Amino acid sequence: MGEPVTLGEIQETLLIPLYGRACDAARNPSILGDRKAVELVAAIDYDFTRFRGPSLSGSVLRASIFDEYVRAFLREHPHGTVVDLGCGLSTRFDRLDNGTVRWFDLDLDDTMALRRKFFDDRDRYTMLSGSIFDTDWYDRVRAGGEPVFLLSEAVLLYFDAERVHALLRRFAEAFPNTPVAFDTGGPAMMKTQDRNPVFRAVSARMRWTCDDPATLEPCGLRLRESRTFATPQSAVARTWPARYRYGIKAFGWAPPVSTYKLNLFTTR
Ligand SMILES: C[S@@+](CC[C@H](N)C(=O)[O-])C[C@H]1O[C@@H](n2cnc3c(N)ncnc32)[C@H](O)[C@@H]1O
Repeated sequence: MGEPVTLGEIQETLLIPLYGRACDAARNPSILGDRKAVELVAAIDYDFTRFRGPSLSGSVLRASIFDEYVRAFLREHPHGTVVDLGCGLSTRFDRLDNGTVRWFDLDLDDTMALRRKFFDDRDRYTMLSGSIFDTDWYDRVRAGGEPVFLLSEAVLLYFDAERVHALLRRFAEAFPNTPVAFDTGGPAMMKTQDRNPVFRAVSARMRWTCDDPATLEPCGLRLRESRTFATPQSAVARTWPARYRYGIKAFGWAPPVSTYKLNLFTTR
């Protein structure tokens, strides 16, 4: 009998990228080589085969683009602090640990309870139970050592625009001159959710439509990079099989690809 899953609606969506990474690990060559994801899928009592379609590979491509934002930060600040907000069952710390980074993974109580069944706090690695919308984790992560890198992958999309904008303003006030990475989706992506096989398998739906990440600058941010699956960093593209490297480029103009953006901002 595997580990039972009792997760809230949005929390359940963490199983989609987990399964995406496990499927990727079973391929040769694999982009992320996430063997731990394979272990977790085998250990969790859940019918992962309900998840199908391009969003599974999409979550792997997304993770690899965000990884490179964090890698670039750590090249400049090897002793910096990284905070993965809404980490789910991500193994990013293991992928990117440079031996000196201080890392915090934060997620809601039920997700963290599941995560703690498979991961332990370690030297320089701490799991925090809480919400991205709380503020009590701010001092805790700042005490880890500055500069700080804030990352939130596939989380903000599930909330209303007003709530996200208010959150970004709080980040800008509390963490000045700090890199913040997160994804945004345009109307084409939001409107096609009900036809997307991974979303047909869960009840959560994305709510925040943002067609142009530059429009978030009034929240106290400066947009530094905005990438799509058709425009990954060249170091990342080299790790992708040709079908993604060239195939997605060919469809880069199509709204589901062109309006899903993986963004890197700096707070002002
Ligand atoms: C689609 S999953 C993404 C998980 C992970 N970032 C990844 O890419 O594998 C969405 C995540 O957001 C988390 N989440 C939802 N609401 C949250 C909140 N208020 N604060 C922190 N995390 C939240 C869920 O528990 C879940 O882990």
